[in-house]
Amino acid sequence: MKALTPRTASRAVNRGAAPVTYGTGDRPPRGDYARARSDYTCEQAATYSAAEHETYRRLFARQRQQLPGLACEEFIAAVQQLGGPDRIPRLDDISQRLRPATGWELVAVPGLIPEEAFFALLAARRFPVTDWIRTPQEFDYVVEPDIFHDLFGHVPLLFNPVFADYMQAYGRGGLKASRLDACELLARLYWTTVEFGLIATPHGLRAYGAGLLSSAAELPHSVRSPQARRVAFDLRRMMRSRYRIDSFQASYFVIDSFDQLFAATAPDFTPVYAEVRATIARSGEIEAGAVLPGEREFTP
Ligand code: PHE
Ligand code: FE
Repeated sequence: MKALTPRTASRAVNRGAAPVTYGTGDRPPRGDYARARSDYTCEQAATYSAAEHETYRRLFARQRQQLPGLACEEFIAAVQQLGGPDRIPRLDDISQRLRPATGWELVAVPGLIPEEAFFALLAARRFPVTDWIRTPQEFDYVVEPDIFHDLFGHVPLLFNPVFADYMQAYGRGGLKASRLDACELLARLYWTTVEFGLIATPHGLRAYGAGLLSSAAELPHSVRSPQARRVAFDLRRMMRSRYRIDSFQASYFVIDSFDQLFAATAPDFTPVYAEVRATIARSGEIEAGAVLPGEREFTP
């Protein structure tokens, strides 16, 4: 799940209409927002067709078999918490396991939701999961997050106590960033960690970002390809960096541990935003894929 960028603050409250446009295109999000509550949550679809369960089963099978050596251990250990791999799970069943583990719960949403609504849910330890699944034609690539991306990509690490706290801190930080008009800078942190983050482990580089873990092609690319560029986590550097939304990331950012990620993002970002804005005004943004002079690259 990634939030939409709202054009106006009022978009944070659902009025039954699809929230703004997605990304840079004019296509409205595909979900049915009329069935969502004011906080954008809804009931999970009561049933799914046999074909939809089959799509989930195939996506799950393909992705699970390539996790060893590519996904971090915390993720692999928790994948079983998603339940049987053959059917689209009930979100409530997963929440029953998740609540005692880290105090999080899953809530269904019709699709992408506005940033402020997204932040408010995370701050309350409620993770929004899109309840529809991609069509077979979109098996390899779907433009908007679907239930497979949201569940398989994001939910296992919500069982990890440190990462679970990081996600809540991000939600709280998002509410603050909205007031400071800094959501664009903060979103870069989400993108480079929660969606596309890599972690250095004693066994080598591994993925922990949901966009990688739910992608059949980008997961091995990010961890192993000599073409991918990988540099160390650096908060201010990441906030200055542009990213791609329409192809593999040109570079990835590597953390040492979830503790490092949590500690580095714990300070108040108010002065950080000011500093990063000043640096951008002076020296510009960093293009996607750039490696700066003196920056060490991680090699697979
Ligand atoms: N420390 C950040 C702030 O004060 C909040 C935050 C934590 C943001 C973790 C992102 C991730 O704004
Ligand atoms: Fe996501």
